[in-house]
Amino acid sequence: MSSISPLAVKPLNVLGLPGLLHGCDYNPDQWQHSPEIIEEDFRLFPEAGIGVLSLNIFGWARLEPEDGRYDFGWLDDIFERTERGGRKIFLSTPSAAAPNWLTHRDPEVLRVREDGVRLLPGGRMNFCPTSALYREKVAATNHALAARYGRHPSLALWHVSNEYHGTCYCEDCEAAFRLWLQRKYGSLDALNAAWWSAFWSRTYTAWEQIRAPRARGEGTSVHGICLDWRRFTSDNWRDFIAAEIAAIRSGGSSVPTAINLHPGGLHLDAWRITAPTDVISWDAYPAYHDKKEPWATAWNPVVYQSFIQELCRALRPGQPWLLMETTPSSANWMDVPKLKRPGIHRLTVLQSIAHGADSALYFQWRAGRGGEEKFHGAVIENSGGPGSRVFADVQSATDALTRLAPVAGSLGSAEIAIGFDWDNWWMQSEIVAQGGRGRSHYPWEQLDLYREHWENAVPCDVVDPSSPLTDLGRYRILCLPQHYLLRPGFVDKLTAWVEAGGVLLTGVLSGWVDDNDLVFPGGMDAGWRRLVGLRREELDHLYPEESNRFVCQSGNALGLTGEFKAIAKLEINHLEAAEVLATYGDDFYAGHPALTVNKVGLGFVYYQAARSEQGLRTALLAALWRRHGVRPLLPLGSLPLGVTLQRRVAADGQEFWFFLNFRRDAQTVGLHDRTGHDLLTGNPCSGELTLAPYGAIVFVPR
Ligand code: GLA
Ligand code: ZN
Repeated sequence: MSSISPLAVKPLNVLGLPGLLHGCDYNPDQWQHSPEIIEEDFRLFPEAGIGVLSLNIFGWARLEPEDGRYDFGWLDDIFERTERGGRKIFLSTPSAAAPNWLTHRDPEVLRVREDGVRLLPGGRMNFCPTSALYREKVAATNHALAARYGRHPSLALWHVSNEYHGTCYCEDCEAAFRLWLQRKYGSLDALNAAWWSAFWSRTYTAWEQIRAPRARGEGTSVHGICLDWRRFTSDNWRDFIAAEIAAIRSGGSSVPTAINLHPGGLHLDAWRITAPTDVISWDAYPAYHDKKEPWATAWNPVVYQSFIQELCRALRPGQPWLLMETTPSSANWMDVPKLKRPGIHRLTVLQSIAHGADSALYFQWRAGRGGEEKFHGAVIENSGGPGSRVFADVQSATDALTRLAPVAGSLGSAEIAIGFDWDNWWMQSEIVAQGGRGRSHYPWEQLDLYREHWENAVPCDVVDPSSPLTDLGRYRILCLPQHYLLRPGFVDKLTAWVEAGGVLLTGVLSGWVDDNDLVFPGGMDAGWRRLVGLRREELDHLYPEESNRFVCQSGNALGLTGEFKAIAKLEINHLEAAEVLATYGDDFYAGHPALTVNKVGLGFVYYQAARSEQGLRTALLAALWRRHGVRPLLPLGSLPLGVTLQRRVAADGQEFWFFLNFRRDAQTVGLHDRTGHDLLTGNPCSGELTLAPYGAIVFVPR
């Protein structure tokens, strides 16, 4: 019989390794002239608790000092040392920063800006993703790396490039766009019809006439081309990423791959660009410790961070993700690179783990002595190291991650989801700007809804509802605010789910256009209109200082009472099959339905015809949870403002409740008869929990 107690066995994380991973970007390519520094790094990794090294992210010039001549010596050395210490490597393909010998010799690999000017050598992420030469050079390098290290026992993940982003407007990219369009539409007639190009005489009579939309040319007058250009841009990156991975595979490595998503890359459709990869990863650089208490402001960076991390989950349902980067201290590029206050770093890490991450890695291990990031926070700063406050903060994260090993591999389990997708985001925020330029409220509406769940201990996913990866059957309630564009087949998928008992909450600016941004005849998709049981006639817009009223009908099905403000965008609709819960109180459309419900099969479709202040969301969601059997983890009102509760559930049903206190002062939360223990301290928990300032408790219910 084995002498290992089952409790000592660590569950496997998303990479099939035991426990949660703790690591950092490691850039020894900058320190080859100082072998003593590398010695010191490997001496200090165990002291800091660093188990994973992301290597070679910007190592191309060191790896391939001249075309076709590879110098693997420095990487061999790091692989050996890493293996000796029992650590793991995330090996990066170095495509994010091209060496000068390449960009100087072959400037055509460089990106062309929106204004038509080609970049000069310099910086990073400055290449054209279509360039055949760049793809060829990247493939050769990746192949060589994979052939040498692809089966190394220390290699745990391919970190493919770094933070893809941006758009290239070169002629090669425009030619690739035309090919993409030809594959999509088949004929110019179909394209002209889809783009409604008879408008302003924009009809295309030859494929060559199609250029990338930009301020100097086709600005935003033809919405279809703007939408397709964005889709193409993401697909073009997807192809670039797929080619990077194909070269890794042809080099003989079957180790999983990931690309690190990041805030600056959110203009790309994450569903499209992550498709060729195995694992989702995200770089988090939140700034919670701003001068205001964030939950008191409309823009709440804490909730936003949670929302984005739910999105990481949605990209690969049923799988944890990796926090690939965060800073243990400040980020030099922020307007005010404020130091993370004591406790914030550990809390940031725990927030990601709470939302499904199986790792926490940093940018970076050691700050360089030169270059743009020399004053960016690092585990070892130029003036820091062991004994420093930041180093101790990293050790406190090590301690937490070690204790949380049982959480590895566990998932979320929400009964509610909020819909978010890039087509809708692009259309409403950048292209159509319906609702007044700059006032699209997408995805603010999503964030406002998410915040109610975050504050009330109701687990909530963020999903792309029309993605084939999204199984609506898992959810009781789906919130689809401003779901303006409907993808082909989506209404059927949604109707089947509602008929089987699903509860849909949607409203203003939903169901208006098809996949090409053509308005449905009659103003709404016919299937959507049947679902909501309403006919749309007009959309009104109000100035910020104006409002209308939702007047709740007495005895309405949700038990809502009183009045709430209707603001910004207000649809004027007519009842068909739906039942009224509230009407507008003012103006020429007073008495028209403002909030309705339509019974469809076993399910219900709620429609909120206007944007509201948070008060209606609070009341409406609480009523929906109550009526449709969604139970918050704790009774409503249990959590103080600024404290959240997020849950992960292991395959064997074991639950982990993450109480996170984002406030500067201690907070208490009642457990309401539940008992268990805190995984972070081992202390038993019952009655009231006290959360330290910026503190956390990972409650394991009995
Ligand atoms: C990004 C990059 C890193 C580094 C950090 C600094 O996340 O991936 O290389 O530049 O930003 O915050
Ligand atoms: Zn290009």
